[in-house]
Amino acid sequence: MDLGISNQVVVITGAGRGIGAEAARAFAREGAKVVAWDRDLDKAQETLGQILEAGGKGIALAGSVGVRRDVEAAVSRVLAEYGAIHVLVNNAAFGDDAPLVEMTDEQWDSVLNVCLTAPFYCARAVAPTMIAQRYGRIINVASRAHLGEVNKANYCAAKAGVLGLSRALANELGVHQITVNTINPGIVRTERVLAQPGYEGLNERAQQRQLIKRAALPSDIVNGMLYYASVASSFITGDVMYITGGRLT
Ligand SMILES: NC(=O)c1ccc[n+]([C@@H]2O[C@H](COP(=O)([O-])OP(=O)(O)OC[C@H]3O[C@@H](n4cnc5c(N)ncnc54)[C@H](O)[C@@H]3O)[C@@H](O)[C@H]2O)c1
Repeated sequence: MDLGISNQVVVITGAGRGIGAEAARAFAREGAKVVAWDRDLDKAQETLGQILEAGGKGIALAGSVGVRRDVEAAVSRVLAEYGAIHVLVNNAAFGDDAPLVEMTDEQWDSVLNVCLTAPFYCARAVAPTMIAQRYGRIINVASRAHLGEVNKANYCAAKAGVLGLSRALANELGVHQITVNTINPGIVRTERVLAQPGYEGLNERAQQRQLIKRAALPSDIVNGMLYYASVASSFITGDVMYITGGRLT
């Protein structure tokens, strides 16, 4: 199936590794011009190298999505390079877990900044271009964890906030032919997750609650991103896709 995204400009945050890197490679395979953006430039360039080696197109960008000036500079750079932005995938995030009574203000603020404020910064920065184009797709990556998990008050609150942000932006931007949708992954086999102490137990417990009894791969999540970016989803906005193998709790 032709997804209709060939030659579109697709900005992917957190594209240096994990789901974001997989997304960057997959969008490039579909013929998109991929902006692989990460705070770690070496990792963003590594992803870009894989794209170029496979015959794809793109650029690598450095900077923090949680810093307004970095976001504005990144968007200016993309517009100078390509003159358009069709798809924004707000994927970058990180966690910094602690029990509630031990969670510091810094842990709270930093996770809220990257997981929730950053998607706001990025959407705000690309919106004028998308409005002028009368076309845009914003895909926000939240998490099944928005339902609540132990020791993750900051992360769960931020991801729940992403759902509200997405619905607000869907309401506001639909009139401009811009769709805004959210993906909630469950636990996914990325290098970060695999390196977590106790991953096997975590994965086993997750699978007990899943209806499909296997670990999720980054490509499972990326397939949802491709769908929300494709022509097939042009009448879908404000939607939430759980890619959890059927796990909701
Ligand atoms: N892997 C999972 O099990 C899982 C589950 C649910 C949701 N998610 C969500 O999926 C998304 C991707 O997760 P992942 O596991 O691939 O993460 P990851 O940690 O493997 O990769 C995240 C990337 O984002 C980059 N990044 C972090 N902060 C940044 C910043 N301030 N500016 C720019 N780049 C920054 C990192 O350098 C890294 O390359 C995240 O939104 C995450 O919350 C993941």
